[in-house]
Amino acid sequence: MSAQTQTPGRVRRRALGDFAKGGVPIVGLTAYTAPIARLIDPHVDFVLVGDSLGMVVYGFDSTLPVTLEMMVAHGAAVVRATRQALVVVDLPFGAYQEGPQQAFRNAARVMAETGCAAVKLEGGREMAETVRFLTRRGVPVMGHIGLMPQSLHAAGGFRVQGRGHDAAAELTADATAIAEAGAFAIVIEGTLEPVARAITEQVPVPTIGIGASPACDGQILVIDDLLGVFTEFTPRFVKRYAELAPLISAAAEGYAAEVRARRFPGKEHCFGAG
Ligand code: KIV
Repeated sequence: MSAQTQTPGRVRRRALGDFAKGGVPIVGLTAYTAPIARLIDPHVDFVLVGDSLGMVVYGFDSTLPVTLEMMVAHGAAVVRATRQALVVVDLPFGAYQEGPQQAFRNAARVMAETGCAAVKLEGGREMAETVRFLTRRGVPVMGHIGLMPQSLHAAGGFRVQGRGHDAAAELTADATAIAEAGAFAIVIEGTLEPVARAITEQVPVPTIGIGASPACDGQILVIDDLLGVFTEFTPRFVKRYAELAPLISAAAEGYAAEVRARRFPGKEHCFGAG
């Protein structure tokens, strides 16, 4: 099946660099489904179909079980539902770490089957060769450094990154390496503020912060965090702009009560009722 292609009205990759140069903050949000993507599209510069969908949509404990098929299905839904935002789709764990050829094969599939404009992958210097291979072959890449959820076990958990002089220097070297390899932007996640700030000052491509620094060239949040769909735990870096959890719960409760009391459906909801 042929994918929907990006329409001429969409934000272009290069525009993100222009925003950054002009001091205009870049706005990103994740989305995984068509209805949410349609609602956020007019307000953001880019939509990331993040592999966070494994936790947010599928209820896994981590992003590790996410498959390429999931990313393709959700990526295609988001592209179909958006008109203006740049759509970036995450490459999931295991889809690119083997080497540049594997990364190209899977990135090409994601781009062909979703119609997205770019892919994102996690990693620093160790991924520079892969980023170079992809970008030289027509696959725009957004990088992702700092806290990298796909390396959860190797890193010993979800930990803030950049503590200590050596760690900060390594993160800067990671960002520099993938920028030099051709990444058009870099997500910095879960990183000490001064470190994210220093990286932003040093690398020639826009940085997108999440739990990083207001000095980053842009920001991204996970949509369900921003909407307050989860009640259990709000990470420090999240600001909730809505509290949907109690609304959803109250709507389900109201519906259940009315069905049990035979108040729903009413005649106005029925076809041909007298
Ligand atoms: O998967 C995701 O949603 C992400 C963002 C947190 C940047 O990578």
